[in-house]
Amino acid sequence: MSLHIDPVFAQTDITAAGTDDLTGLDDWRSMDAKQQPTYLDAEALEDSLTKLRSLPPLIFAGEADVLKQRIAAASRGEAFVLAGGDCAESFAGAQADKIRARVQTVLQMAAVLTYGGSMPVVKIGRMAGQFAKPRSADMETRDGVTLPSFRGDIVNGYEFTEESRRHDPARLLQGYHVSSSTLNLIRAFTQGGFADLRLVHEWNRGFLASNPGYQRYEQTAREIDRAIRFMDACGADFDALRTTEFYSAHEALLLEYERALTRIDSRTGLPYDVSGHFLWIGERTREIDGAHVDFLSKVQNPIGVKLGPTATAEDALALAEKLDPNAEPGRLTFVTRMGAGKINDVLPKLLAGIGDRLPQVTWMSDPMHGNTITSSTGYKTRRFEDVMAEVEGFFSAHQEAGTIPGGLHIELTGDDVTEIMGGATEIDDEGLRRRYETLVDPRLNHDQSLEMAFQVAEYLTRRG
Ligand code: PEP
Ligand code: CO
Repeated sequence: MSLHIDPVFAQTDITAAGTDDLTGLDDWRSMDAKQQPTYLDAEALEDSLTKLRSLPPLIFAGEADVLKQRIAAASRGEAFVLAGGDCAESFAGAQADKIRARVQTVLQMAAVLTYGGSMPVVKIGRMAGQFAKPRSADMETRDGVTLPSFRGDIVNGYEFTEESRRHDPARLLQGYHVSSSTLNLIRAFTQGGFADLRLVHEWNRGFLASNPGYQRYEQTAREIDRAIRFMDACGADFDALRTTEFYSAHEALLLEYERALTRIDSRTGLPYDVSGHFLWIGERTREIDGAHVDFLSKVQNPIGVKLGPTATAEDALALAEKLDPNAEPGRLTFVTRMGAGKINDVLPKLLAGIGDRLPQVTWMSDPMHGNTITSSTGYKTRRFEDVMAEVEGFFSAHQEAGTIPGGLHIELTGDDVTEIMGGATEIDDEGLRRRYETLVDPRLNHDQSLEMAFQVAEYLTRRG
C-alpha cells in the first residue's frame, strides 16, 4: 500500500519507498478491526477510497494543533471543554436550520459555562463527520425478517430493506461531502457574527422565560447581565466576541475512511487525520492491541478514548502509553461513561488506581452512554436525572481524587424533540411519542441541554 498525499500538503519526496514503514499508518491492517463494514464490491470500495485520497482535507493540521493546546488548558483546569451533537448525524439532516440549531445550542451552553467556570469553554461539535455507528448486534430482525443493522449513513441506510441495509462504499464519498458542507456552514456561522456574545445571552434570556421551572437559574442570568454591562462600561471590545473557535469531532470508527483522509502535514512532515479536528475511539473498539488504537496512535490530532465501567487503571495506563507515549498535554482525553448507578463506585477506583501517573490526560464526562434504558412505551431513552447524577458523580470523583474535571461530551440536538425523559419540561414515558426522531441514541433537546448547562455552571462556580 503506497502512501497517498494531498498535493496541498505534499512534501517533496515523501512518497518515496519506505515512507509507510516510517509512519506506520497501515499497521492496523494486520490487526483485529472491530465494527467494520462488509463491502461485497472491492472495486467500488477502491474507487471511493481513491477519490477520497485526492479530495482536499476538511480541516487544517494547524487547527488541530491549536485545539490540542486548548484541551491541554482544560487538563490544567484553565478551560472547560464542551463537546455536543447528534449520536448519529444523518445525510438528510444536514440542513441549514438543523445545523444552526445545534451550533446555537452549543454556543448558548458555552456562554453559561464560561460564566460559571470563569474560564474559556472549548467548543466542539459531534458534527460534520459523526456518521458511523458501532452496533452491539450485526443483524436486526423485524417481523421475522433479518437484515444487517443500521451502522450510520456513511455505511448503509436506515430504511429496513435489503437494498438500503447493504453496505455501500459510495456512501463514504457522500459522508465526506456532507461533512464538508456542514463544516462550511459551521465556520460561516461562528466566524460571521452568529456567535456574538450579546446575541447568545439574549437567546438564554428567552430560554429562561419559557418555563417557570427555570426560575432557579434567573440569578445566574442576572449576574451574566451585570457582567456584560460591566465589560461594556470598561470599554470591552464586543466586536471581538462576535466570532469564536468551533471544532469538529467524530468517532474514528471506519478505518478505511480515516486512513484515506490522513495526510502528511507540510509544516511538520507528520500525519494528521484531516477528517475532523478531534477523533475518538469508542468503548467497543478500544482494545489495546486492536486496529483502532494502533491507527490513532499514528496521527497527531488530539484524540479521545471512551472508558466504560469495566475499564481498569491498567487499561487506562496501557492506552496512555500507546496513544500518548510522550505525555503531551492535550493529546489524550479519557471520556468516562460509567452510568449513574456505577460512577460513584468505579470512577474513584479508576482515578485512585492511576494515581499521579497521567497528569497530562484530560478527563471528560459522557453522561449519556451509561444511562440508556427502555421506556415502558418501548423507546430507547435516558432519564435527565440519571444524566445529571452522572455529571455530579464525575465532578465529585475528581474533586476527591484531586484531578481535574475537564469537560462534558453529550448527545444533543437543537430541536424540540422528546427523546430523553425528565427535566423541567417533564417528558414522561408517553411524552416520548410526541417527537422521537433519533436514528440511534436519544438526545437532549434544546431546553434540556440548556438546563444541563445552568446546573453544570453551578458545579463549576462551586469548584472555582
Ligand atoms: C457514542 O458516543 O455514540 C458511542 C457509541 O459511545 P460509546 O463508545 O461510549 O458507547
Ligand atoms: Co450514542
